[in-house]
Amino acid sequence: MTTERKEEDTVAYTVENGIAWVSFNRPEKRNCMSPKLNRQMMRVLDKLEFDDEVGVLVLTGEGSAWSAGMDLKEYFREMEALGLGGTRQAQRESYGWWRRLRWYQKPTIAMVNGWCFGGGYGPLYACDLAFAAEEAQFGLSEINWGILPGGGATKVATDLMPMRKAMYHAMMGENIDGKTAVEWGLVNEALPLAKLKDRVTAVANVLLEKNPVALKATKDAVRRVGEMTYDNAEDYLIRAQEAANSYDNTGRKEGIKQFIDDKTYKPGLGAYDKSKQQG
Ligand code: COA
Repeated sequence: MTTERKEEDTVAYTVENGIAWVSFNRPEKRNCMSPKLNRQMMRVLDKLEFDDEVGVLVLTGEGSAWSAGMDLKEYFREMEALGLGGTRQAQRESYGWWRRLRWYQKPTIAMVNGWCFGGGYGPLYACDLAFAAEEAQFGLSEINWGILPGGGATKVATDLMPMRKAMYHAMMGENIDGKTAVEWGLVNEALPLAKLKDRVTAVANVLLEKNPVALKATKDAVRRVGEMTYDNAEDYLIRAQEAANSYDNTGRKEGIKQFIDDKTYKPGLGAYDKSKQQG
């Protein structure tokens, strides 16, 4: 029999060389999301978001799972037993940190090491980029236990996949592996599990070289413009860049200077050298 894990132990993290490695930490429960885990994840995201030591956040899972979705016992059964207020509280706590992650200040990467089910699609979608183990298994298993893919999971499927794939995925309750998840649009790349962390570290290191104000403006723009007309998007992008300039007016000038005057890099082939930036 396993002893009950304390709330503060449901999420683990370390910060190394600018990368925050955050893990779902209930491996004995396949990292399914309980109210305790949801509350603790919000605390951890809060703590790391404006920490100067953190440039990129990676979300992964301890053990064999990334996340087996919502906790059927602690999230559904026990919170429902408290009445509508319990259900709404559980939803606020989970949807709340996923929303926080969707609009996170720092770039975020999902490193999907294993099982990823149902409610797990919320944080998967919330991360800007996603890399999976080929061995990972993705599934909208809700239909297998008698509900629709809620908690945003249906929206995630239709946003990321073509309609026929999303429909099949939601109705059939079959799992797909990492490679298929790439083909269907759920993740960027799939690699053998043994190589996953190295690849994610390399991607994070590239992001650490970029201008952080521009990265935040870019990731928000990619999420926002999909729902806009061309004209609205054009206008939004002008305003988003001008707002970004008020936070960082030196970075892009340095970027122009190193290309046009110094000829030390080409923006089409890589990023400017941030370390030479004054102010
Ligand atoms: N909710 C509650 N408990 C869960 C869970 C979930 N979503 N996923 C796993 N667990 C628990 C199991 O009940 C078990 O608990 P126990 O040791 O107290 O009996 C423990 O985690 C280990 O799970 P187990 O099923 O033995 O692991 P496995 O490696 O054989 O199988 C899965 C892994 C992910 C295939 C299987 O656990 C599963 O199907 N989970 C549910 C996935 C799901 O439908 N999620 C959608 C929720 S919206």
